[in-house]
Amino acid sequence: MDLDGKVAIVTGAGSGIGYAIAERFASAGASVCVNYLGYEDDAKALAQKLPKAMAFRADVSKAADVQAMVDATIKELGSLDVLVNNAGIERSMPFLDVDEATWDLMLGVDLKGAFLCAQACARAMRDSRRGGSIVNISSIHEDVPFPGYTPYSVAKGGLRMMMRNAALELAEHRIRVNNVAPGAIATPINAKTLNDPDKVATLQTIIPLQRMGRPEEVAEVALFLASDASSYVTGSTYYVDGGMVRYSQPL
Ligand code: BGC
Repeated sequence: MDLDGKVAIVTGAGSGIGYAIAERFASAGASVCVNYLGYEDDAKALAQKLPKAMAFRADVSKAADVQAMVDATIKELGSLDVLVNNAGIERSMPFLDVDEATWDLMLGVDLKGAFLCAQACARAMRDSRRGGSIVNISSIHEDVPFPGYTPYSVAKGGLRMMMRNAALELAEHRIRVNNVAPGAIATPINAKTLNDPDKVATLQTIIPLQRMGRPEEVAEVALFLASDASSYVTGSTYYVDGGMVRYSQPL
């Protein structure tokens, strides 16, 4: 699996899964646009560390920011072959308490942001006639309900359908679209759980492989989907969850 000569944008690459993906893509030979909004220092340090990379601040929920990022990437790194829609935020809130601002924020970043990036990148990929690969980092909650996290899981469910539609519409341009659906991965998004050994122990009882995952384990699957190793794969979701989505107990 290599990305020699390819250019990738990874959104939300200043921390967690996005950071690991940017690092892995670079080690596979890619030039990488390290997108960030928070985690500015980490994103800039990462871009400095990688052989061919740039850091770019963009709020993925704003179309103008997204277009500026795509234009700058093509100008500075020469082309665009891969998008990883990784940027995301998660807030816990009971269904009955979700307010309009929280709904708009979560859906704005986690779903609209992914759409805006996919559309802007796909237009550039169509125009270049080089084909491309779009990888959305969704969640097992693109399928499994997540009580207390309605806006988050609704966004992830939407990401699943966006991927399926885009895979069909973009196939004629040789643009493949797939999702990676992580389970419980040790990243800042799970800080509360990670700081509570009892919570970690409970979580592990519903993960068949009996442990949380590492960002690098998600990055390997993202690399597969970004690279030509997956040249005949489009329209699919790959779970990277230690079997969590299949958890069940004998009745
Ligand atoms: C969430 C985590 C959660 C995991 C498994 C992920 O999408 O970001 O907070 O632990 O799903 O439920």
